[in-house]
Amino acid sequence: MPHLFTPYTLKGVTLRNRIAMSPMTMFRSTDGKLDDFHLMYLGARAAGGFGLVFAEQIAITPDGRTTTHCAGLYDDDQIEGHKRVVDMIKSMGGVAAIQLGHTGRKGSRVTPWEGGTRMLPPEHEAGWQTRAPSAIAYGGRLPYVPRELTTDEIAQIIQDYADTTRRAVEAGYEWVEIHSANGYLASEFFSPLANQRTDQYGGSLENRTRFHLEALDAVRNVLPDYIPLTMRLGIDDLHPDGVTVDESITAIGWMKEHGLDLADVALGFNADMVQSDIHTSALGGMVKNATRVRTEVGIPVATSYNLGQPELANRVIEEDLLDLVYLGRPALANAHWPVYAARLLGYQDPFSLVPEDWAWWLRRSRGADEAIGWPAATNGAALRDVAGVAAAAPVIEENPISEELAEQWPAESASDGL
Ligand SMILES: Cc1cc2nc3c(=O)[nH]c(=O)nc-3n(C[C@H](O)[C@H](O)[C@H](O)COP(=O)(O)O)c2cc1C
Repeated sequence: MPHLFTPYTLKGVTLRNRIAMSPMTMFRSTDGKLDDFHLMYLGARAAGGFGLVFAEQIAITPDGRTTTHCAGLYDDDQIEGHKRVVDMIKSMGGVAAIQLGHTGRKGSRVTPWEGGTRMLPPEHEAGWQTRAPSAIAYGGRLPYVPRELTTDEIAQIIQDYADTTRRAVEAGYEWVEIHSANGYLASEFFSPLANQRTDQYGGSLENRTRFHLEALDAVRNVLPDYIPLTMRLGIDDLHPDGVTVDESITAIGWMKEHGLDLADVALGFNADMVQSDIHTSALGGMVKNATRVRTEVGIPVATSYNLGQPELANRVIEEDLLDLVYLGRPALANAHWPVYAARLLGYQDPFSLVPEDWAWWLRRSRGADEAIGWPAATNGAALRDVAGVAAAAPVIEENPISEELAEQWPAESASDGL
């Protein structure tokens, strides 16, 4: 039976375990480059045992960034910064993954700590005229109306995916994900809430998926065959007029025929004020839909959102519900999450996940756990100790999706807030 620490092979790439650091935008780039901060931060996660390490959404064009502080790979000058980071991740035993993104109508923003999701007007020196499938503003704190893309511009953006992929391969990335969630450009094409085009890119599900199939073809065309091509897809807009899970499953089937190797199941976020709490704040809240995609399409899947409790993360692999677990905030909170989880779950030699020279020292701590700030080796009591996180999370009984998941766990675990 596979578990969280079983290696995983997709195409010609093998991860040392099932744990991925989910892409997280850090808003710390200058001129769209990765620098010493990214080397430190991503290198530490690779050294901490993550099998797959994403940096963040990497823009394929300058106007595809969220803010002017966001990273890109739209220029050959940016390759070197990525290469340094990729080399570091590899030297620490991880596989480096890139998430190709374009923010569409959700770009031109300030950094979160300067004002949450506030948007800057096109005339602002740090803002720009956003582009999107249709001239419809997202609304709320993102009020500025994007300009509708022409078909020539769409063709150029498809080419930009390919050009960025070529640079990514040069930098050494061995895993490519197209970002089509969180209300960004590809997700906008997919969603009737953002896409009201009357040409071949709008209207029917076939037309709203055309952009994705063209992007997949363009990327696959320049990607060495051994490198996996994946997509983070917002499969549900949680809105009566938005994308539904059923139609997403149909579209993922088409994407599979166009070279999609794994679906990273996520949400659309194409409408202001969506009722997303049930999925995003419940432990394992996205697992049910991800498993549906896996079963109905017959494609490997991953998902994120509140999977940072080691026992839960392990079980979604053991129970064959997911192929990979993506961790966002847990990876921010703990660069050594995989080692920590291995210890809590009682796997032998958790220090084999860190570089061998550290492992040599750490293994010598046998019987003196407290001396190195390490939880006790037995999993039960130690798990409950650190599960203060679970105590603060919404209780599982309030969430029908998690309730269904909970049925699969022993009652004892569920009552602990799993
Ligand atoms: C600071 C931060 C930045 C994020 N940036 C991205 C991003 O660039 N691309 C993306 O697809 N998701 C992004 N996310 C979402 C995460 O990848 C992840 O899906 C989400 O945090 C849920 O997983 P978690 O519960 O493990 O944190 C971001 C999340 C955080 C906390």
